[in-house]
Amino acid sequence: MDNIRNGRFKTGMTDEAAEYTSSFDADKVLFEADIKTNFAHTSMLKHEGIIDEEIADKILCALDNLKEEGFDALIFDASVEDVHMAIENYVTSKIGPEAGYMHTAKSRNDQVACDVRLVLREMIEEIQIGILEFIEGLVEMAGEHLEDIFIGFTHLQHAQPITIAHHLMAHVQALKRDYERLGDTYKRVNLNPLGSAAMATTSFPINRQLTTDLLGFDAYLENSMDGVSARDFISETVFDLVSLSSTLAKICEELVLWSTYEFGVIEMADEYSSTSSIMPQKKNPDVAELARGKTSIATGELITILTILKAIPYTYNRDLQEITPHLWNSVKVTQETLSIVTKMMLSVEFKVDRCAELAGKNFATATDLADIMVREKQIPFRTAHKIVGRIVNEATANEMAEENITSEFIDDIAVDLGFDKLELSDDLIQRALNPAENVKIRSIPGGPAPEMVELARNNIKDFLNIEFEKQGI
Ligand code: ARG
Repeated sequence: MDNIRNGRFKTGMTDEAAEYTSSFDADKVLFEADIKTNFAHTSMLKHEGIIDEEIADKILCALDNLKEEGFDALIFDASVEDVHMAIENYVTSKIGPEAGYMHTAKSRNDQVACDVRLVLREMIEEIQIGILEFIEGLVEMAGEHLEDIFIGFTHLQHAQPITIAHHLMAHVQALKRDYERLGDTYKRVNLNPLGSAAMATTSFPINRQLTTDLLGFDAYLENSMDGVSARDFISETVFDLVSLSSTLAKICEELVLWSTYEFGVIEMADEYSSTSSIMPQKKNPDVAELARGKTSIATGELITILTILKAIPYTYNRDLQEITPHLWNSVKVTQETLSIVTKMMLSVEFKVDRCAELAGKNFATATDLADIMVREKQIPFRTAHKIVGRIVNEATANEMAEENITSEFIDDIAVDLGFDKLELSDDLIQRALNPAENVKIRSIPGGPAPEMVELARNNIKDFLNIEFEKQGI
């Protein structure tokens, strides 16, 4: 029986119970962080004169050795509950019972909270860098399509002309928010619970500021009960991953739609496509579909985490151990999906002629026809909306394309609806119905006009420079 049980109990757990309660698999991720936490704590105990200097040095030396030797140097048997005990056992095997001093004024409760925070802050930074790289690629791609007309949708029905660049930059804005959201969460992750001990701190005169500094935390958590039991920093992070996943899922969904024969606006790279075992003509967007599917995983993990957290009484309860595997899984899947969606999206070829063709059809420019009636003839927008609605209705019924809409045709409809003739010039009408003109005159901040999208690109490039530098890149 292991040394923490044999004081209190006569026997060990059954193998089944030991296996059921072990966190070993999920703890692998914590290995290096746990060494760091132990190192900082022992250094602090030494600095404050709480444990003997020579013993502290032996402990620190054994921890250094373990770091060199790696995770496989740990011995796990049914009696070892988790990585914290395995590491303590390792130190004991190297220096003897004096290893036990490393656990002075420390509990596995504050230790595990500390470890998870150390690991998670690095994971957040890695994901953030991945998002920045995706943004950088999209901004470059947008630069190649500033003037390329595309169709924008609402309700997945033709709405108004835009450019390919404007569409790509919409995704950039969503990704920027995903990045910033993780940055906000980081502030609440990077706080030190160490020193909370089991839940009520300790009677030893520990120095919490010192471990905070040694571990690079921004501050220590100010309530020891909160320190050992707070896990909202986890649910918050996973929510951020869900939000990022939703951005990625939208991109995947578009790739699936856009690559269909019916849309036909992109060509997916062969590297991210599959074929059929029976239909030789097929080019299927399997990677986009799988990524779209996998973006649901973080949502499931978030619900699991929130459900575990609900109504856990203060302070530490073993339920909390059950949260970390779901955190690691959501980080892993989201990271993998971000990486593959970045590469897949940036390898897409836009069929610019087809994009422009769609924008010129199906009266996507009808809003502008109504707008010129308001502007040129000072009629209320609702009246113009009614006239143009009827124009589209009749033109569609008679299979008339935009270029056949004349001043005479419009006036017949206006009179028919009980309004005065508008007498717009044919030239003005055709310009209003031209998708490129539609885009050009939308030079409002946030609009699709090329100079506005270029401005947005430049703003994002400034943002990237600042953030890449902050991330040390
Ligand atoms: N493996 C545990 C966890 O992940 C460490 C803390 C154990 N604490 C305890 N009181 N049994 O939460």
